[in-house]
Amino acid sequence: MTRASTSFLPPVAVDPASDTPMYQQLSDWFRRAILDGHLRPGQAVPSTRSLAGELRISRIPVLSAYDQLLAEGYLETFTGSGTRVARAIPHTAPAAKRHRASDDGDGPSPASRRISRRSVQLHGPEQTWLDSLGAFRVGMPALDRFPTAVWARLVNRHARALSVQAMSYGDPAGDWPLREAVASYLGMSRSVRCDASQVLITTGSQQALQICAHVLLDEGDRVWMEEPGYPGAHQAFRTAGAQMVPVPVDGDGIDVEAGIRRARGARAVYISPSHQFPLGTTMSAARRMQLLAWAERDDAWIIEDDYDSEYRFGGKPVASLQGLDTAGRVIYLGTFSKVMYPALRVGYMVVPKDLVQAFHAGRDAIDTFSSTLFQLAMTDFIREGHFARHIRVMRALYRERRQALIQAVERWLGGRLRIIGADAGMQLVGLLPEGTDDVALSREAATHGVSVRPLSPCYLEPPGRAGLILGYGGVSPAQIDEGMRRLGQCRAFVL
Ligand SMILES: Cc1ncc(COP(=O)(O)O)c(C=O)c1O
Repeated sequence: MTRASTSFLPPVAVDPASDTPMYQQLSDWFRRAILDGHLRPGQAVPSTRSLAGELRISRIPVLSAYDQLLAEGYLETFTGSGTRVARAIPHTAPAAKRHRASDDGDGPSPASRRISRRSVQLHGPEQTWLDSLGAFRVGMPALDRFPTAVWARLVNRHARALSVQAMSYGDPAGDWPLREAVASYLGMSRSVRCDASQVLITTGSQQALQICAHVLLDEGDRVWMEEPGYPGAHQAFRTAGAQMVPVPVDGDGIDVEAGIRRARGARAVYISPSHQFPLGTTMSAARRMQLLAWAERDDAWIIEDDYDSEYRFGGKPVASLQGLDTAGRVIYLGTFSKVMYPALRVGYMVVPKDLVQAFHAGRDAIDTFSSTLFQLAMTDFIREGHFARHIRVMRALYRERRQALIQAVERWLGGRLRIIGADAGMQLVGLLPEGTDDVALSREAATHGVSVRPLSPCYLEPPGRAGLILGYGGVSPAQIDEGMRRLGQCRAFVL
């Protein structure tokens, strides 16, 4: 039996005389140590060279063992920071949880106690192996191009002279001047029909989804979900105890007839009609009319997520579905996460007039109101023209980046990734040949320092189509080209 001990690892034990191949002994040892909590999430593991040296064995079995552990998600690696135990492990390792809890003397771990069935079904942040990577992170705007000096001046302006009123409890629906500014912006740019009384300020679309689920649905109510669709929406409806019915999306958007066949009498539908997440489809006019007619006839609600509609590069801007609604069936959601920055946590929703009171109560119940300081600064940012200017500049930038991404796919991946979707937004989808394991590919790409989100987890009903979601908002053309070159080194593209 050979043992190696480093300052941060418990002794690694392998037996050169055993029938079990060396790489398997090593991967078994690491898996066990991680599950038992001897190796903690984020903890660095030795380089393959130093472990092989300490165990006095060849480097090849160590490399194979690490490769396997990386592919299985026990380890993760980032350029410049070596190999580490995956940070997602605590959510999936019951043995580790038990061990840590008793280690620390703090009693049984929370997960071993009884919690709600709904929260057991929540998956937590997905694809954590992508967290600290750059190209092609989804949903990330060009943060380095954000006018921070202007923004800091506006925030300072209000922070320095905070009135007693601004420091006190605010309106659950939001600060009135911001609601007015949002109503007029949406009227002009998205053809949304509303006045400020119908606007609610939220901490982003995610909260707006929670509010919708709680205000519109009772536990067990059925809601049509685009298939594939936005995992954030899945989480919100899951927490509310709604029953999600996957409804396929085709080239015209959600298939209304399929929805009726699958769940007649559903209470609501969630859609992203301007730029469907993740496929990038724009919903056709005929489908919009069909959906509105269904909602009116069946007394159902339409939750319209207009998350990145500011960015359309070809053709005419597509007006919101809310603007076509004459029966007060649409609840419209928008966010400043894409145009400003995600950490701002400010978004908005527009609700039918007769639901205003119910939504105010729901908003208040969920977290009282949004931070007043940022609402004040945001109002000035819109009123003084910075918002419109920033959108114009970013639109040109993202158009260029999208083009660079398409060219890089052609250059490095040839025809092996089929790009689909409208000329819009900050991300696109590349479809992979049927049968490709896109989750494994995403994990492998992360080992090359590339963030590509797998498409299949966006499906409620497995197996989903295999593909990659590629964000280009926060990446320069040079990073796009380099990222695609690295992606091309993954097995799925080399073979
Ligand atoms: C479909 C969709 N809706 C909404 C959002 C934004 O959510 P939030 O406003 O909570 O940041 C995203 C972000 O990626 C998204 O993809």
